[in-house]
Amino acid sequence: MKLRKMAIAMTAVMALGAISVPAAAEEEAQAQVIGISMPTQSLERWNRDGEYLKEQFEDAGYEVELVYSDNDSSQQVSDIQNLLADNVDILIIAAVDGEALNTAMDEAAEQEVPVIAYDRLIMNDAVSYYVSFDNYTVGQLQGEFIVEQLDLENAGDATYNLEITAGDPADNNAGYFYNGAMDVLNPYIEAGTLVVVSGQTDFDTVATDQWDTQTALERAQNILGSYYADGTQLDVWLCSNDSTALGVAQAITSDYAGDNSVIITGQDGDVANLANIVDGVQTMTVYKNVSNESIVTLSLAEAILNGETIDESLCDTFDIDCAYDTESYETTEGNVCPSFLLVPSVITADNLDELVDTGLYEMGDDGYLTAVE
Ligand code: GAL
Repeated sequence: MKLRKMAIAMTAVMALGAISVPAAAEEEAQAQVIGISMPTQSLERWNRDGEYLKEQFEDAGYEVELVYSDNDSSQQVSDIQNLLADNVDILIIAAVDGEALNTAMDEAAEQEVPVIAYDRLIMNDAVSYYVSFDNYTVGQLQGEFIVEQLDLENAGDATYNLEITAGDPADNNAGYFYNGAMDVLNPYIEAGTLVVVSGQTDFDTVATDQWDTQTALERAQNILGSYYADGTQLDVWLCSNDSTALGVAQAITSDYAGDNSVIITGQDGDVANLANIVDGVQTMTVYKNVSNESIVTLSLAEAILNGETIDESLCDTFDIDCAYDTESYETTEGNVCPSFLLVPSVITADNLDELVDTGLYEMGDDGYLTAVE
């Protein structure tokens, strides 16, 4: 990489007519190329991530190759191999399945192309750094919201019925979201204050392949039909993200006869879910400013490409709340992946203006939010 910078400088001198530069060096003085691999366009947030990342890097003078892999791991392997064949200088990857990219990751290591795991960890030591939000905290915020909304600390003999929908088992984040929430809620389940009427509590049972809305909807309909058709009250449904919350909310609207409103959690600030929050159908979402995630990723990528020392001081170079973590995430047993973790926040009908303040959403006269294109 240093060669390229020197070549750029030499080209500038040449432009002054001072010295001639071999053609090879001149050819070298091109923008460095960023390979960006996103999992899918079928989930709203990844379209935003892809666009923000592309914008940040192009504004900084880099060339960008952005690919989406239709939530198909083998497609993502070949997409990454194509980026490597195009001689990208760094890879930024949000994995469909963090365990399924070894072929491409081993090639990146062979070609000494650095890899930033973006938002979802990749289980391969070719990954140099991880940029995400504190995923366990995302789950904790959902669990704590439920505790507060139901005032479980002062429940006395009262009991509340809870159901659970977790994320894609192939997504390393999904386990963190689930554990963060369940570590908050389990004491109340064990005390009998929270009752999971369906009995479905373990991750593998409540997980949702590919975070798919229809899959979440159908499982919720089955639970409602089997355990709540007799008038049993449903008080709260823990959903790990917005795409699954959308399916659960549709099932509750169509298949739950109870006259109480059900607390529903989510994550991502998807536009359809924000409308449900305005309408009182969904109760909260955990918001992650993915534009900020792309800014942190740009800063990290530049530091890597410039051969700079990378440590917690990088967090001081941008005005974004971010922690440098060298303990929580391992790409393989014992191989810690230094991580930059941003801070998520809780959004309800009472603070939707905070989303507008990010500049990434607009609120119409009808009170509904749309994403700024
Ligand atoms: C997770 C991501 C969440 C959620 C989910 C669905 O990995 O961190 O924001 O949206 O994927 O794409």
